[in-house]
Amino acid sequence: MKKFIVCITGASGVIYGLRIVEELSKNYYVYLVVSENGYTVLKQEENLTKNDLKNMFKKNVEILSNNNITAPIASGSRFNEIEGVIIAPCSVGTLGAIASGLSQSLIHRVSDVCLKERKTLYLLVREMPLSLIHIENMRKLTLSGAVVSPASPGFYNDPKTIDDLVNFVVGKVLDFFNVEHSLYRRWRDEDK
Ligand SMILES: Cc1cc2nc3c(=O)[nH]c(=O)nc-3n(C[C@H](O)[C@H](O)[C@H](O)COP(=O)(O)O)c2cc1C
Repeated sequence: MKKFIVCITGASGVIYGLRIVEELSKNYYVYLVVSENGYTVLKQEENLTKNDLKNMFKKNVEILSNNNITAPIASGSRFNEIEGVIIAPCSVGTLGAIASGLSQSLIHRVSDVCLKERKTLYLLVREMPLSLIHIENMRKLTLSGAVVSPASPGFYNDPKTIDDLVNFVVGKVLDFFNVEHSLYRRWRDEDK
């Protein structure tokens, strides 16, 4: 079974990360890492605790502590079986830490490893407005091979609910990895 690493950090929009795990775990194995601040925002936005998260995904999901830098996925030697690392949502703090190569947590480390092993690192960044520091970090990571994307839903396919907006963004992330889904109606796709 192909594998993904999904990380949730302390930016707004933790629902994006949850929905990505929900979709991926239908057909892929998912390592999920949540930062301490990610847990704070999970509580704030979704009223979910660490325990709730453990009980949320029934199969194909392994939750790892962000302190666990001895986890197998912290090593490049395990990346032969990893399709990519998705950080959703990605705070500008995590963006900066990855851009400076700190590698002091599992999230920072798997991101660093992902870049050095030339696998896809997808950063779904949520902040507004952006400072030059953020933009420079995005530029540096883009030049290093990462995909940097704002969590920016489109409005051209007639969204009616928050779920529609979330699914559009999540669908676009999954498209990048050629993961099949039916989360949003594509432009001029009248049949769905
Ligand atoms: C409710 C809440 C919402 C936040 N939203 C954002 C956000 O949208 N973007 C961001 O970069 N930081 C946001 N922050 C601040 C980050 O959580 C903070 O910078 C933290 O240090 C990020 O740590 P992490 O990247 O290790 O999770 C938010 C904090 C809270 C409590």
